[in-house]
Amino acid sequence: ANAATDTSSRYSFDELAWGNDETHHIANGYNADVLLRWGDPITADAPDFDVMNQSAEAQLQQFGYNNDYVGFTALNDEGTRGLLCVNHEYTNEEVMFPGLGRQDRDGFKGMTKELIDIEMAAHGGSVVEIAQDAGGTWALVKDSQYNRRITPLNTQMTIDGPAAGHPRMKTNADPDGMTVIGTVNNCAGGMTPWGTYLMAEENFHGYFWTDVVDADGKPDISAHADADKMKRYGVPGRWYAWGQHHDRWNIDKEPNEPNRWGWIVEVDPRNPDAKPIKHTALGRFRHEGAETTTSKDGHLVIYSGDDNRFDYQYKYVSKGVVNDETAVFGSSLFSDGTLYVARFNADGVIDWLPLVHGTGPLTAENGFDSQADVMIDTRIAADLLGATPMDRPEDAQPRGDGTAYVMLTNNNKRKAGNENAANPRAASDFGHIIEIKEDNQDHAATRGTWSILVKCGDPEVTEVGAQWNPETSENGWFGSPDNCAIDADGRLWVSTDQGSKWGKTGKSDGLYGVETEGDARGTSKLFFRCPVGGELCGPYFHDSGETLFLAVQHPGTDGTKDLKGFERNSTFEDPATRWPDFDPAMPPRPSVLVVTKQGGGKIAV
Ligand code: FEO
Ligand code: CA
Ligand code: CA
Ligand code: CA
Repeated sequence: ANAATDTSSRYSFDELAWGNDETHHIANGYNADVLLRWGDPITADAPDFDVMNQSAEAQLQQFGYNNDYVGFTALNDEGTRGLLCVNHEYTNEEVMFPGLGRQDRDGFKGMTKELIDIEMAAHGGSVVEIAQDAGGTWALVKDSQYNRRITPLNTQMTIDGPAAGHPRMKTNADPDGMTVIGTVNNCAGGMTPWGTYLMAEENFHGYFWTDVVDADGKPDISAHADADKMKRYGVPGRWYAWGQHHDRWNIDKEPNEPNRWGWIVEVDPRNPDAKPIKHTALGRFRHEGAETTTSKDGHLVIYSGDDNRFDYQYKYVSKGVVNDETAVFGSSLFSDGTLYVARFNADGVIDWLPLVHGTGPLTAENGFDSQADVMIDTRIAADLLGATPMDRPEDAQPRGDGTAYVMLTNNNKRKAGNENAANPRAASDFGHIIEIKEDNQDHAATRGTWSILVKCGDPEVTEVGAQWNPETSENGWFGSPDNCAIDADGRLWVSTDQGSKWGKTGKSDGLYGVETEGDARGTSKLFFRCPVGGELCGPYFHDSGETLFLAVQHPGTDGTKDLKGFERNSTFEDPATRWPDFDPAMPPRPSVLVVTKQGGGKIAV
């Protein structure tokens, strides 16, 4: 990038060189310091991390695994004390525990109940108080009354909205259909305008088990009354062996349990005794995130994608408006409102189609007896409405001016001839970003316009069909956008998750400033990159614009055998990196980083 690019793109920093090695890198003039690592004790009486002697009891008081979403809510006017809210999406047992190797290829041999309970305790979320000292350094306040873990092992949650108490939500352990233990696969999320914490339940299907398999060893659910509905959601995925030791994860024993997962969970970070709530009015699907804003008239609006190939983009609009009475944990704004699904028309218009029982095809004739059915089977309802099948909707980020950005990460299953205007490439390995402009700059609008901001991938390779502003350098282009954030100046930042396909770019995952305005629109600049095999999550900007939180997920694990670059599959004993400790006795640890400018000041300004 030359100097002209730097000034025109508004992102004022010297672009980082692309690459991929054992550690993280940030643009010159910035610090990226480790704040919290998997296993760090987060409560006053938590034991120190002992990787060779792990226990569920210890993990319940320690920072969880695979940090994804990061949010922050201030506890003082200056914003120098506050609560960090972090999702722990999933676990990689092959690098967490010694001697296991690739469990998914080995019938989960070695996954004892003891290890499974540790895995469950490492999932969920963390709420921790952090504070900044006079020198500007952030640190954990370890004895804070607010610090707590939220896990699928032991955290009781309540259910509200149309599906609460419905017969399809009832199990042996919960005959009222009103209480669930925990949350799982919490990917991205959001903070409400009043500082509560939203955790999105994404790939919940992977946790469900059946003992019934066909001749090929694949799950056979044909005996289930709800087999077609389970199939639409990919239940049971059998990614984890939890159902071998906990009945609720086994659909042969608890066929309704999957209906209690795939929701948005709200947590009150200021009240450690408040039970989190699963809000069923926001629909049930593989929620990537839940980013909030308010409409012109003050309605709460939440954008959420369903991260699956050919699934849909949604938004929720509350019936009531945000005011002193409603801006509270467990607000009626979350139980009374309308969920919409997006149809991206070829003429550049987007229509938001309401998922309301009794309207259009959402009637008893089509299997929807009530709004509870519409919410439990959101995907099937959206199919009937004619929503646009997307290339895996990941994070979606609204901005105050009626604009929203939607990350479409990739879709290698889209066949030639099956493209649509909003998903224009077949076999898309690198994804794209869509910009939505709601009518009248109003996030509650049911109509707007859309356009493609960038098509990702290498602009030098014609067959890729990438589309960037030509000012984008060899460092600045990327593949597989996943999480995103808007900073205090309204600028878009995008982080990537290429997974095991990272060798297709040769670049590690990173954070990019992507210009949306003026002549520099579509210009991208690399600001931070991960250690090998790690994906970048967060990102979250403090309101001051002077602190940025980043989450490096699963460092060292996305190895690959047949692509260029690091050619190895990590294990506890032989990881691709031992970031961030670089201690020969410690495997790589997912960690949250704090980014600040050397000498202080706003980031990239
Ligand atoms: Fe958990 Fe869609 O990324
Ligand atoms: Ca994600
Ligand atoms: Ca986000
Ligand atoms: Ca991801």
